[in-house]
Amino acid sequence: MDAVKSVNLAKTYRGKETVEALKGVTLSIEKGELFTLLGPNGAGKTTFLRIISTQLLPTSGEAYVLGLNVLNEAEKVREHIAVVPQDVATYGNFTPWEYCYYFSLLRGMTRQKAKEMSETALKAVELWELRNRTCATLSGGEKKRAIIAAALASDAQVLMLDEPTSGLDAIARRKVWTVLRDMVEHGKTILLTTHIMEEAEMVSDRLAIIHKGELMAQGSVEEIKGLTKEKFRVVVEGGLKTLEKYVNNTSFVSFGSKTIIYVEDGDEAIELVREALENGLRAEASPITLEDVFVKLVGGRENEVRKNC
Ligand SMILES: Nc1ncnc2c1ncn2[C@@H]1O[C@H](COP(=O)(O)OP(=O)(O)OP(=O)(O)O)[C@@H](O)[C@H]1O
Ligand SMILES: [Mg+2]
Repeated sequence: MDAVKSVNLAKTYRGKETVEALKGVTLSIEKGELFTLLGPNGAGKTTFLRIISTQLLPTSGEAYVLGLNVLNEAEKVREHIAVVPQDVATYGNFTPWEYCYYFSLLRGMTRQKAKEMSETALKAVELWELRNRTCATLSGGEKKRAIIAAALASDAQVLMLDEPTSGLDAIARRKVWTVLRDMVEHGKTILLTTHIMEEAEMVSDRLAIIHKGELMAQGSVEEIKGLTKEKFRVVVEGGLKTLEKYVNNTSFVSFGSKTIIYVEDGDEAIELVREALENGLRAEASPITLEDVFVKLVGGRENEVRKNC
């Protein structure tokens, strides 16, 4: 049984304007994996997560959490999930400790277990020292970590986190990645949303790329990277005149004096670097990144849409 499953899930917001936020999303998340929904602003990530977490009704389609229907078994679904919303406001006079401890008690945990879970969660997000300060006196990132800790302390089977690391500094972000991976190693299932490519690449077992309410691709990072024929990128700094034969044969993108040239295999990448260096240019080859593939998939679709207009 999948931890999360959606079948043709669609949501249209009808207000002054009609927005098709999800256009039939079908995906499944296995138990014990960290699955990332990766997409730009407005892609439909929060909409998806809010439907799956029983906060919003879909327009059509079906969704299940641990086999329970989110529409007509919402109460049961809530027993098994913990959610970190995107725009969470903390209660100013609550402390991080109270967030973790009382929310765990509310879920029916014994006091002893709630204490243990709260301590572990607060230590994991490095808020243990600040556990008795009221949230009103914490920084934005510290507040966010308090909410993440409350979700971790819940002992829920499935965690749903909507851009949990936005607003966190690089060190805090990596700490959260470590915590999330630990949770998965301990059998939890995590659904994460992000628009940060590095995050998706570093933490996901599998991911889905979502754009304008549609799934563009889903699979492991390697599978998604396999969707483009080019497997290497060479960043060249300086004039490209001497490299015309490469530039004409493959795809490239320039940013001022820097150009990324995409090539299909490693030998070609090495040859290109050698030629660039011989011509006095700086050059560096590496495997393509998730960001490269994302831009190709999403950018490709944008071009298609533009052509069809
Ligand atoms: N309550 C609403 N009423 C009308 N339109 C909405 C509503 N909520 C979201 N939308 C629209 O639906 C689309 C998807 O929004 P959603 O919040 O799901 O995107 P997202 O991928 O989470 O974006 P972000 O990365 O900015 O958080 C957007 O075009 C947004 O403007
Ligand atoms: Mg969002």
